[in-house]
Amino acid sequence: MRDTIRFLRRGEIVELDNVGPTETLLDYLRLRLGQTGTKEGCGEGDCGACTVALGRLVKGRLVYQPVNSCILLLGMIDGAELVTVEDLAQDDRLHPVQRAMVDLHGSQCGFCTPGFIMSLFTLYHAENVTQTRKTVTDWLAGNLCRCTGYRPIVDAALETCFQATDDAFTWRANETREQLQYLADSRDIFVGDGDSFFSAPATLDGLAALYGQHPDATLIAGGTDVGLWITKHLRELPKMIWLGRIEGLDRVEDSPSGVLIGSTATYTATEKAVTGLSEDLGELWRRIGSKQVRASGTVGGNIANGSPIGDTPPALIALGSTLELQSVEGSRAIALEDFFLQYGRQDRKPGEFVTGLFVPRLSANQAFRCYKISKRFDQDISSVMGAFRFTVEEGLIVASRIAYGGMAGTPMRASNAEKALSGAELDDPSTWGDAMKALLSDFDPLTDMRASAGYRMETARALLAKALMEISGTAPGDIRISSRRGADNDRAA
Ligand SMILES: Cc1cc2nc3c(=O)[nH]c(=O)nc-3n(C[C@H](O)[C@H](O)[C@H](O)COP(=O)(O)OP(=O)(O)OC[C@H]3O[C@@H](n4cnc5c(N)ncnc54)[C@H](O)[C@@H]3O)c2cc1C
Ligand code: FES
Ligand code: FES
Repeated sequence: MRDTIRFLRRGEIVELDNVGPTETLLDYLRLRLGQTGTKEGCGEGDCGACTVALGRLVKGRLVYQPVNSCILLLGMIDGAELVTVEDLAQDDRLHPVQRAMVDLHGSQCGFCTPGFIMSLFTLYHAENVTQTRKTVTDWLAGNLCRCTGYRPIVDAALETCFQATDDAFTWRANETREQLQYLADSRDIFVGDGDSFFSAPATLDGLAALYGQHPDATLIAGGTDVGLWITKHLRELPKMIWLGRIEGLDRVEDSPSGVLIGSTATYTATEKAVTGLSEDLGELWRRIGSKQVRASGTVGGNIANGSPIGDTPPALIALGSTLELQSVEGSRAIALEDFFLQYGRQDRKPGEFVTGLFVPRLSANQAFRCYKISKRFDQDISSVMGAFRFTVEEGLIVASRIAYGGMAGTPMRASNAEKALSGAELDDPSTWGDAMKALLSDFDPLTDMRASAGYRMETARALLAKALMEISGTAPGDIRISSRRGADNDRAA
C-alpha cells in the first residue's frame, strides 16, 4: 500500500501525501503551486484553455497525450510525466511549437494560447500522423480561440508539428522512460482515511474488496463525466476510487470473433480496434468530444454513466455486445441493452463494477451503420444517435438490431421496427414502410434544449431509411457529411 501519489515533472519525481479526493490538477497547478500559465476557461472540458500533456509508457513507447486539467483529478496523474506550458522553454529559448505560434501570429489576447501550445506539443510528439489540415483541425477541435482565428494556429501546426522532434523531451526520452518504469509499481494507493480518501487499487481483487467495503464511494475512470460533477454540480464526493491503475483493466484484445474492451480502455486506445469492426464505429469514435476527451474518457465510463445520450451504447447494442460486471461475489455477463433499466438506473448492484465489454465482429451476411446527429460536427452531444445491424439472406432482411440514443430515458432498441423489418426485401424500399411506421410506436421522445420530440422522431425515421438506402445501394450518391468535410479540409491544406 502506498499513501502518496508520485509523478514526474521537469526530470524530477514529485511525491505528494496530501491529495484531496476531488482536487483537480488545475487547482493543484494554479492554487497550490501558483503556476498560472495553465488557464481556466469553461471548467468543464470544452474549451481546452487548461490543456496540459501527460507522458505515459504505452507498450514501452513514451506517448504524450493532451488532457483537460480542469476535470482531471490530481491523483489521476500518478505514474505519468506532467508537462505544462511553463515546462517547454529552455533557458529563454522557446519550444519549436511556441516559436511557430509567435512567428505565424497565432496569438492575440493569449488566454487560449497555453492550451493550444500544449495540444500542439502533443501533436509535435505524435507518431504516424499525416501532415494534413484535417489532422490538425481534428487534433485542435478541443481548443477554442475567440480572437485570433484558427488559420494562423493551424499554419503554425502544419509548419512545425510534422518534423522530426528535436526538443528537451526528445533528448531525455530514455531517462524519462526509465523513470516512468520505476514509477509503475503495483502497490494500491490510499491517501486519506476511511471517511475521505483518494484511492487507486492496483488489482481487480483489491478494487472488489475496497468497493465492497465502501459501496458509497465514487468510481472514476477518465473523469470526463465525474469531473463535471465536481466543477459544475459542486458535489461532495469524499470517497474516490480511481480505476486507472488496475492491471489489465485497460486491455483491448482484437480476435477473429470480436473485440474485448477493458472498462478503462480510452477512446484513443480503442479507436483502431473499433475501426476494424466497422468504419462507421471508427467515425463515431473520432466524433466523441475532442482529442483531450478521447485521451481520458473510457468506453466503460460512457456505458456505466447510463446516459440516454451517450454515443457508444446504441452502436454497441446494435452490434450485439455483452457487458461484464464484477463484485466480491463474483462476475457475470449480460446483454448490454439489459444494463439500462430506466433513466438514471442501471443493473448494477452495490459494490459491483464494470470490467469490460465484448463486441462481436460482423458476419459475412451482416451490415452495420451508425449515425450521430448533433448541432455541431465536432465536440457536441447527440440529439439523436441511431445504429443499425441487418442480417441479410438471399436479399431478405432476416434479422435486425436497431438501437437509438436520445429517443427515450435510456439507450434503447426499436423492437417493433425490428419485427416489422423481418422479411423485408433489402432492395425494395416499398417493403420498408411498416418498419418506418413501427418506429412511431417504439418511442415517445422528449422535447429539450437539444431537439424537439417531433425533430427527434423524424430524424430517427430518416436515419433508418438512410441505413437501408446505404446498405442496399439505393442511396442517391454519397449522403455523408463526414466524407465531404474531410475532402474540404484536405483541399484547403
Ligand atoms: C467536453 C466533453 C465532451 C464530451 N463529448 C461526448 C460525446 O461526444 N459523446 C459522448 O457520448 N460523451 C461525451 N462526453 C461525456 C464523457 O466523455 C463520456 O461519457 C466518457 O465516455 C466518460 O468516460 P470516463 O472514463 O471519463 O467516465 P468517468 O467520468 O470516469 O465516469 C463516468 C461514470 O461511470 C462510472 N464508472 C466509470 N467506470 C466504471 C466502471 N468500470 N464500473 C462502474 N462504474 C464506472 C463513474 O462512477 C461515473 O458514474 C463528453 C464529455 C466532455 C467533458
Ligand atoms: S477550462 Fe475549459 S476545458 Fe478546462
Ligand atoms: S488569442 Fe484570445 S482567445 Fe485565442
